[in-house]
Amino acid sequence: MEQNLFVSKAAPAVPFVSSWKAPSNIALVKYWGKSEPQLPKNPSLSFTLSTSVTETKVNFQPATSCTFDFYFHGEKRPDFNPKIQHFIDRITPYIPWITNYHLVISSENSFPHSSGIASSASAMAALSLNLMDLEQHLFPTMEKDYFHKKASFLARLGSGSAARSIEGPVTIWGKTTSCSTSSELYAVPFGSDLHPIFESYRDAILLVDHGSKVVSSTQGHQLMHKHPYAEKRFSQAAENLNALLPIMRSGDLDAFIKIVELEALSLHAMMMTSTPYFVLFKPNTLAIIEKIWEYRAGQKVPVCFTLDAGANVHVLYPAEYASTVEDFINKELAVFCEQGKYLLDRVGTGAKKM
Ligand code: PMV
Repeated sequence: MEQNLFVSKAAPAVPFVSSWKAPSNIALVKYWGKSEPQLPKNPSLSFTLSTSVTETKVNFQPATSCTFDFYFHGEKRPDFNPKIQHFIDRITPYIPWITNYHLVISSENSFPHSSGIASSASAMAALSLNLMDLEQHLFPTMEKDYFHKKASFLARLGSGSAARSIEGPVTIWGKTTSCSTSSELYAVPFGSDLHPIFESYRDAILLVDHGSKVVSSTQGHQLMHKHPYAEKRFSQAAENLNALLPIMRSGDLDAFIKIVELEALSLHAMMMTSTPYFVLFKPNTLAIIEKIWEYRAGQKVPVCFTLDAGANVHVLYPAEYASTVEDFINKELAVFCEQGKYLLDRVGTGAKKM
């Protein structure tokens, strides 16, 4: 099995400090439905973001078993421990040297809590990169390609979509026949033939609802197991990804918009037709979508939307339309946001060592 490639050797402990900044990402083709251990039922593709990031520092101290303390924005937060412990238990077979360390993990997000930005993606990616940094220190002959793949592999075991938060500007996770390097185990970068328009694409995140989700993404994935439309949805996503790849090379924005919006609405259609059914949309989500459609038709501006597992709307547009679209957002869409708030982000190049 390919995953055996990611099993490292044990090594004696050395004190080490590492710090990484990892971005969040927004999927254009959505991952919704998985099998154990965090393997996607369909391939997905995302824009890596730029300013929505988690910065995590890990102080590795030699110890007799793997223990940790977690700090979020300077405050000790034991409420996060079960999630981190679960992650460490899952990845220990691949990084057995970790059993010789106590980790002091200090993490900060650049974006507000519950803002609809996938914080588990950036957080798990940043933590995994710190672990890989130490592994590279222990085994210095490691190649860069292996470093990135294994960071994505570990991040995936923390949160599926985190696999796509290591590199940029566009990454693919899950096996697809149209990308020979693709894998279920980790994400791979799109490649050098990405149309340049997508390297500087903008994402304005409209904060429609700060409230906590009625159904978590873990529960949502779970509900795909007995979903009557599951198999059709997985093949639809795979087909949408196949269709999107040449579009990402040619820069055909009309075709891009059709697939991206279809994917967003298909994701929410799955939620609305699960048993039990649930709706993460809010009335203002739909109001924003209708405004975008009206504006696009009237102004001939290639702006579109996508949605994550929540009510907030990601408005996507090319950099050359930034001032026009941001003026539109400010005048016509901000009224639908909680306290008029939105975040301006853009496609980024991936995680960075601090
Ligand atoms: O990584 P998870 O388990 O939080 O799932 C993410 C699912 C979506 O954000 C809705 C889609 C995606 O591909 O990111």
